[in-house]
Amino acid sequence: MTIPAYKNPTLPVPERIEDLLSRMTLKEKAGQLTQWFHLGPDHHDLIRKGELGSGLNANSSTAGNNPQERILAECLNDLQKVAVTESRLGIPLIFGRDVIHGYRTVAPIPLGMAAAWSPGMVQAANTIAAKEARADGIHWGFSPMLDIARDPRWGRVAEGFGEDPFLAGKLAAAAVRGFQGNEQDAIPQQFAVDRIVACAKHFVGYGAAEGGRDYNTTEITRHTLHNIYLATFKAAIQSGCGTVMSAFHDIGGIPLSAHSSLLTDVLKEQWGFDGFVVSDWGAVWELTNHGIAADGNHAAELACNAGVDMDMCGMMYLNSLPDLVQAGKVSEERLNDAVRRVLRIKFALGLFENPYADPNAAQVVHLQPESLATMRELAANSMVLLKNNGVLPLRSDNLTICLSGPLADRRKELFGCWAPDGQDEDVTTLKEAITGRLGAETRLHHYELADDAVKLARSSDVMILAIGESEGRSGEDNCTTTIDLPAGQEALVESARRMEIPIVAVVFGGRPLNLTRVMDWADAVLFAWHPGITGGLGVADVLFGDVNPSGRLPITFPRSSGQIPLYYNHRPTGRPLPGGSRRHSRYVDSLDSPLFPFGFGLSYTTFEYGNLQMSPTPQTPEISITAQVTNTGNRAGTTVAQCYVRDVIASVARPVRELKGFERVMLEPGETKTILFKLGPKELSYLDDNGHEVLEPGRFQVWVGGDSTAELGTEFEVTPDGKWVGSR
Ligand code: BGC
Repeated sequence: MTIPAYKNPTLPVPERIEDLLSRMTLKEKAGQLTQWFHLGPDHHDLIRKGELGSGLNANSSTAGNNPQERILAECLNDLQKVAVTESRLGIPLIFGRDVIHGYRTVAPIPLGMAAAWSPGMVQAANTIAAKEARADGIHWGFSPMLDIARDPRWGRVAEGFGEDPFLAGKLAAAAVRGFQGNEQDAIPQQFAVDRIVACAKHFVGYGAAEGGRDYNTTEITRHTLHNIYLATFKAAIQSGCGTVMSAFHDIGGIPLSAHSSLLTDVLKEQWGFDGFVVSDWGAVWELTNHGIAADGNHAAELACNAGVDMDMCGMMYLNSLPDLVQAGKVSEERLNDAVRRVLRIKFALGLFENPYADPNAAQVVHLQPESLATMRELAANSMVLLKNNGVLPLRSDNLTICLSGPLADRRKELFGCWAPDGQDEDVTTLKEAITGRLGAETRLHHYELADDAVKLARSSDVMILAIGESEGRSGEDNCTTTIDLPAGQEALVESARRMEIPIVAVVFGGRPLNLTRVMDWADAVLFAWHPGITGGLGVADVLFGDVNPSGRLPITFPRSSGQIPLYYNHRPTGRPLPGGSRRHSRYVDSLDSPLFPFGFGLSYTTFEYGNLQMSPTPQTPEISITAQVTNTGNRAGTTVAQCYVRDVIASVARPVRELKGFERVMLEPGETKTILFKLGPKELSYLDDNGHEVLEPGRFQVWVGGDSTAELGTEFEVTPDGKWVGSR
């Protein structure tokens, strides 16, 4: 008996897809575009009829599933078996999950990963996550989350790479490569068996939610959309990201899950994205709540015509698309286009040939020592030292340490949001990590609510306070009206101050927090984000100086909630600061500067930048910027050299600074290295309202240094024929 062409692995995939498409009914096509959650025996019938294309194994406060519920390959195989052996055409299911920062080996939250300023480490972490997820039978991870966020009240700021499109764009590309393993910047023709397909989300502008309130409406100009919000998605698509998720919110009245000019004109046509678009959870149905669709039918029509290919956790497509096609409201061509896109990814994942997961793989693949070591290194490198008056690093011998604070001995609190596969028992707490490294004559007192707390503290040499947010206070639907520390924590630091011993505050969190008072009271402050399962160990590595901190803020830390939104790459006003006149853009009750600028972070050593030079790069339209950085302290350390640019006069006011290059540089004490940044048309142009690059001749300023306030700078000029001239 001859096998149908679509089952023949020797034929080219496009041919297999066309053959399969020609055999499918309208209902089966709609089925391929339908994803449902928490599949089990109750759904066998639907699968058997070919009416489900994908399963979502969810876990979130809003998704309504059980926290920490393990994914088991056997359960997914049972479902897959029904699809493959009992449905008419045997099309395999694709299983998706929120693989956001690591999997079983939980990595630091994405905002923390971003603080390491290391595409290489992000790629390595996602490679591990992909391997672990695939071992459980997961094919598709709903990340990277690429929403630029300028409002830390928004809980989902934890899930993204911060406020800067350049840094986030580089990390987006790395995250995609880590998941998918693609060597070319294109969706792989064939994924390796230990890789998963990535999903760039939430397309687009979700981070601009008004008031920092989740799901809220946004107003974004086309200029800002192209230059800030779309940029990270473009970077992901250009590196071959296989899927995109359309967001919940609206921009100026058009919900993103019905936004044809962004989903179709920009994403699919202008950028040539040929993977598929999935809606966010129930977002197709929510078009009725937005008030642009009269009912589910209408919602399906709007979403499908706009370019959403798969309905996540909704039955709108399944129930409505066949009739909509028959009524001519959705063309069969559009339906086929959506199905082709989904099938293409299923073929690329090899699901037609290898639909099942090995039920024993997880045991061998999860929590491998190398994976734990990689995550520990990433965690330690993501931590940002905000203050140190010399108390750090701690010596491990002959010391009495007093450890306190609500997060000192906590496990899942260190995961951060979206860690559905992390298991509490895998976490090393900060207390355990410190205990594990106590040297000779070193003692640890730990108390949460001890009666003799004062005595314990007073008899210690140093106090470590583990404060901040626990994992449940950030992430989806966890927005706050202020960025102040949770109730009681400032008072805790203040009372500790009265013990008159040095205080080290270790702050965990999923967002920038208001640390203004803590900075006054503590002798050292280490911002540790939510660092994942090896996070306690990572903190100890930094506290005891095994790792010299090199994390740099990927997002501005305001002095108070009232300064929000506060971001470094803002546009100039007509009344800039510092200004001569009395009336300029400022507050009368607060300093205008942030508490810590974007890019900031201290080290146990010091660095100096100098000798900035410019020269044309031979045979290219680029200018080379070089600078020297020297380790002026007495310890080896890593700095993150950053290059910022300003287009001084342009037709549209350009930001006062924009990051255009960065590099981690490791230096021995006294060592000097020369760093090189290349600025070409891409770095020096901006995008017009249609997304086209515009490079205007005129003056540019450039700075190189350790954060976004770097002062070492120079200027050059771009001539009308596109040449670069060093001017002053
Ligand atoms: C979130 C997405 C997530 C999806 C699936 C939604 O509520 O917005 O980020 O991927 O649920 O769990």
